[in-house]
Amino acid sequence: MRKIGIITSGGDAPGMNAAIRSVVRTAHSAGLEVLGFRHGWCGLVENDSVPLSPRSVSGILQTGGTILHTARCPEFKEKAMQRKAAQALADNQVDGLVVMGGEGSFRGGLALGEESYVPIVGVPATIDNDVYGTDETIGFDTAVNTALADIDRIRDTAVSHDRIFIVEVMGRKRGFLASMIGLTAGAEITLVPEVPFDLGDIVRTIRENSAKGKRSGIIVAAEGIGNTRELADEIDRLLGIEARLSILGYAQRGGNPTARSRYLACEFGSRAVELLLKGAAGRAVVIQDARITDISLEESCSSEKPLDSSLLQLAKRLAT
Ligand code: ADP
Ligand code: F6P
Repeated sequence: MRKIGIITSGGDAPGMNAAIRSVVRTAHSAGLEVLGFRHGWCGLVENDSVPLSPRSVSGILQTGGTILHTARCPEFKEKAMQRKAAQALADNQVDGLVVMGGEGSFRGGLALGEESYVPIVGVPATIDNDVYGTDETIGFDTAVNTALADIDRIRDTAVSHDRIFIVEVMGRKRGFLASMIGLTAGAEITLVPEVPFDLGDIVRTIRENSAKGKRSGIIVAAEGIGNTRELADEIDRLLGIEARLSILGYAQRGGNPTARSRYLACEFGSRAVELLLKGAAGRAVVIQDARITDISLEESCSSEKPLDSSLLQLAKRLAT
């Protein structure tokens, strides 16, 4: 093995740059060249590449985003595009590829593996934390902390105005972010896409809290639960309590990665290179019970990561 490639794909995540740095410096210490491909799978197809040296990755450990840029590239689901990507790897004499992204990016890596002999290793990097087989993804902890900083501020004004705030967090399909944010923000109610909500239950909970003297409250809602603006208006109308909506949005995708996200990035990036050096292919680096290990990309792509409902139950118990 002489040269490995890197792409960052799908939603960007704080810590991707730390992982790129880890791959480049681990590879360099093993005498390998590194070629980055910009803009995710589409950039690989278009051969949009940039050589990466240990100096190329100076000063990025602490920065959000990805120096390789990323993209959504739905056309990569087409075999013709996957074959073009395989050809780009061959044309650049790439002997191994590290793909950093979420479950969609891993599916792209699995599909590319059918069209190319180049070994592929996945590094789970997405704020959604929805990659099967790993307890945590790069960027998740940072996104949780970013949301917490905002929610602590929102709670100040909620208390001052005796208002109910719905705080919409990211998570179009899954509620891992909302569950952890809801618990650690002390939200009175947490809504996730996996559990259909009942407006009557929400109204009852707010009424019960009000009877206990709780004159304000925070509802953390994943963006995937539905129309949060309508929900705020309904609560206001049905309860006669002022309800407001605050959408945290893309701020959760940026910012300096936390130590936890950097730790995962350093470990995952280094392990990915070690796997390629050992001749492994079609693997995903994961963390399970605090241990860095790896599973097959196929296994990671074959199942949906189950949501830990115990976080929701604990949050509800502690918000009484
Ligand atoms: P994430 O990796 O964060 O989940 P996406 O779901 O957008 O983000 O997936 C990233 C990219 O991976 C997609 O834009 C597409 O290029 C590619 N991809 C996703 N699913 C597949 C698939 N089933 N086959 C091939 N490529 C896929
Ligand atoms: O996959 C991460 C994520 O931030 C989701 O939580 C969110 O729903 C989605 O990306 C937004 O996608 P885009 O950046 O393409 O608008």
